[in-house]
Amino acid sequence: MSSPGSLSEPAMKILIHQTRALATDCAASLIAARLNRQPDTVLGLATGGTMEMVYADLIARHRAGKVSFAQATSFNLDEYVGLAGTHRCSYRHYMREKLFDHVDMDPARAFLPQGDAPDAEVEAARYEAAIAAAGDIGLQLLGLGLNGHIGFNEPTSSLSSLTRIKTLTRSTREANARFFDDPKDVPRLAITMGIGTILRAQEVVLLAYGAEKADVVARMIEGPVAAACPASALQMHRKVTIVLDEAAASALELRDYYEQVHPRVENASS
Ligand code: F6R
Repeated sequence: MSSPGSLSEPAMKILIHQTRALATDCAASLIAARLNRQPDTVLGLATGGTMEMVYADLIARHRAGKVSFAQATSFNLDEYVGLAGTHRCSYRHYMREKLFDHVDMDPARAFLPQGDAPDAEVEAARYEAAIAAAGDIGLQLLGLGLNGHIGFNEPTSSLSSLTRIKTLTRSTREANARFFDDPKDVPRLAITMGIGTILRAQEVVLLAYGAEKADVVARMIEGPVAAACPASALQMHRKVTIVLDEAAASALELRDYYEQVHPRVENASS
């Protein structure tokens, strides 16, 4: 039988933290707890600015002997079409630099789509099949694009899409230009897990920080489920935790309610 607490929980667990550091600690704790509970978890990993903090936290936990990736498998969400894994701006390079080279992850079980595969469509289908063959994602980590994308599922992506090639929007290319020497170098296409692929994960943890994400966070959580805001599809998932800082939570209409259901630990203990 359900406990009274679980009866009153919203479908999405919304955790609002005072600072990015506290939010990052919360997300890293969720990942470490999952790995400690199930060392051979299949992780779904993301890249981007938000994730850098999470990976730095996980590296510190690993160095302190508090988490191991030795038995885990990982599948990254996406990769730019045309970039070899050795390219400085590829997501494989990002993952090595920000996480893999600093923890005990087995490189043979750390998967990303191959951006420079001879046929990107074949590669996308192969990647989707590899995820399914691994039993699908256990814990999927997500960031949130300013336009509501998750992975590179840009607005109007099918909510049941599988891994495939997507054309990046101008807004995404502009947001990611900071990682490239010349904005013109940002690839126009990416291979990305689909929204359907993501929704098959057992558990999803999405992080969003900063005032510039406040509107899209509100659309994701409180707006209609619509392809115009791909992250809103997470409303259909049975186990999603959304980890926010104050600024990213500032446009939520039901914010008081979320804080009532899940009081902040830093508040509860003060
Ligand atoms: C990248 C990815 C993207 C980012 C999103 C947020 O692998 O999946 O969806 O998570 O664009 O990026 P940041 O954290 O840089 O704002």
